[in-house]
Formats: sequence, structure tokens, C-alpha cells
Amino acid sequence: MKLPRKHSAEGATIFTVMSALAQQHNAINLSQGFPDFPIDERLGQLVFEATNKDFNQYAPMPGLPVLREAIAKDFANRYNVEVDPDTEVTITPGATYAIYTAFTSILQAGDEVIVLEPAYDSYIPNIETNGAKAIVVSLTAPSFSVDWDKVRDAITDSTKAIIINTPHNPTGAVWSKEDWDKLADLVRDTEIFILSDEVYEQLIFDGKQHNTVLQHEELRKRSFALYSFGKVFHNTGWKIGYCIAPPELTQAFRRIHQFLCFSVNTPAQYALATYMQGNLPAVSNMMQLKRDFFLELLKGTDFFIHQPASGSYFQTVSYANISDIPDFEFAQWLTKEYGVATIPISAFYGNKKDDKLIRFCFAKKEETIKEAFEKLARLKPETV
Ligand SMILES: Cc1ncc(COP(=O)(O)O)c(C=O)c1O
Repeated sequence: MKLPRKHSAEGATIFTVMSALAQQHNAINLSQGFPDFPIDERLGQLVFEATNKDFNQYAPMPGLPVLREAIAKDFANRYNVEVDPDTEVTITPGATYAIYTAFTSILQAGDEVIVLEPAYDSYIPNIETNGAKAIVVSLTAPSFSVDWDKVRDAITDSTKAIIINTPHNPTGAVWSKEDWDKLADLVRDTEIFILSDEVYEQLIFDGKQHNTVLQHEELRKRSFALYSFGKVFHNTGWKIGYCIAPPELTQAFRRIHQFLCFSVNTPAQYALATYMQGNLPAVSNMMQLKRDFFLELLKGTDFFIHQPASGSYFQTVSYANISDIPDFEFAQWLTKEYGVATIPISAFYGNKKDDKLIRFCFAKKEETIKEAFEKLARLKPETV
């Protein structure tokens, strides 16, 4: 029997490949973006509380009202934006699912979607599975800023959406308010939707501010804003996220969502909602300390950075002073020979563009980062 190919991505994702290689070689895994430190004990206890209180059956399709209300309150407090919990918030099993569902609710065969690369690896397969075509525009390395002329040139009559990601995985770059204004200028007289992947919105450093698409009055009307609790509360394995979009877009989103998974894990929703009523930890400060610790130790190596990450879990690092082998080979070699797993940046490009960059995840315990650098201390250009 012939099985149809729904998208062009080959094999397992780079995260699966590098995590498996890390395990095989007993390497420190700084590849995949997940924390190795425990979640707040209270958050775990609240799951037990939920099951004891019998929050064990299907949640309503859009999510537990108490969680949607907590999200609306949180956005009012932190961003001064009004969000209607009934008509604008939908709880999802993670942001990856929310991105897929948003695409599925708007795309038809033949549509085009503009993707800024390097990009999170699910975007293009999601677009293609919906019969649409990804039109890729490269960010300008090494600052990874947007070249707005290139984006303008990529827009055609078939452009249905643009997906953007800030703070950015894998580069840690953060959009300014001007970036949003430039995007608004480009789409003003079009029917183009925006998917705004903001999963790292609360992990932002050096006093910078995250500007959410929801604060942009004009863009908000055409946008799906996508979030992940996993990134904020260090519980990536819970796979709970949400989509905030205007009522009409939310209706379209829920038309797909109700037949895709219908509703999301009830005890975890209860736990998150109750947790959000209390004082929440300052996650940006905590993550910035980890980034700084990582960068301090990096100074003792032959790796170098073009700029420190302004947000996210990740630092992009150049190995050009160490080797000129392709980045995937370098990342494999580093894992096998030095016991430290990273992600080659070429994996975030459809054409596997190789700038001799690898991505480290610094969302780890200090002792994990320290141990990784003890291993990397042996690494000198002449050892390659
Ligand atoms: C940019 C970006 N978007 C979405 C996700 C997925 O989030 P979730 O784990 O909630 O599906 C990730 C996870 O690494 C990410 O880096």
C-alpha cells in the first residue's frame, strides 16, 4: 500500500536525534529545550488536590473556565490588555498543537505562509500537512533581525499567513515595537493572518520588554497568539498551552480543536489555574542568571557568541574558531567525543544553511552547566 507524504521533513526531529545520541553516549544534554530542575513543589501538589477534589473527567472543550479567567487576569496585569476568557482563550495540549490548529483553521490547499528562518521545526511540516506552501525568508545573521524588504518581496496574492516567533528559538532574539509596526505596515491592506508564537514571553533578559501581538491594536484583529505553560513553569512534559485570538478567529480555531483532541487534561488545568492565583516566581530573573552563568563559563573556551540571548532558553554559539566541519557533524562529534549534546542551527533552515553555529540550552541546573564546561575545557582547535 502506498502511504501519502504529508510534508517534506525527513525522519525524526533533530531534538529526538540529538537527545538519543546524548543518551547513547551518556552526554550532558544541552540540546533539547527542557529544564532539568524540579517544578515548584506546590504546583505538583495541586495536581493531587485536583484528583482528590474529583477534577478527573473531561474539561469543557475550550478549557476550564477558572484557567481561562486566570490567563485573562494575567494578561491584564502584565500587559494591560483585555482578553475575554470565554470568547478569546482556548486551552490546548501544548503550543505545538495550538500552532497546528491555528494553521488548520485558516489554510487551504495552494495557500502560502511566510516563515522567517531559522524557525522552530514544526512550522513547515504543519503548513505542508495542510496542503499549503511555506515561503521562507531568512533572518539576517548574526543579529537575526528581520529584513522587511525581503518579507515584502515574499508576499503574493496567495499569502494567507505569516508566522513569527519572539523571543526567538533558536537565536534568543527579541522583537521591538518597531518590528510589530513594520509588520502592520506590510499587512495593512491584505487578508493575511498572523500566528505569533510567544512561548518564551516570560523569559526575557537585561530589562527588555516582551511586546505581545495582543498589545498591537491593529495586528491583534488578525492574530492567533500562542503560548506554553511548559516554558514558564518548567513543566514541559505537561504539554499545556493556549491560544488567544479575537472571537471570530477563536471560533474557527475551536471548530478544529473540538474534533482534534476536544479537551485537555483536567487535573493539570485545575493545578495551573490554582497556582496562578498565588505569587508567581520571577522566572526571567532566574533564567537570566542561568544565561549569565553559561556565558561566563563560555568565556573560558574557544567558542564565541555574536550577541547574548535576549530571551528564551537558548544561546547560539559559533564554533568557527574551533573547526570548519558542517554544524551537524560538529554537534555529533561534540556529543560523542566530549560528552556535550547541542543542536546544529542548520536544522532550523529548510535548506540546512550552515553558519557554523550550534544552540546550547541553558535552562539547566548550575551543576549541569558546570559539568558540561568541565568536559568542554579539554576542547581546543588542535584537537578536532
Ligand atoms: C518556538 C517554540 N514554539 C513552540 C514550542 C512548543 O511548545 P509546547 O511544548 O508547549 O508544545 C517550542 C518548544 O520548544 C518552541 O521552542
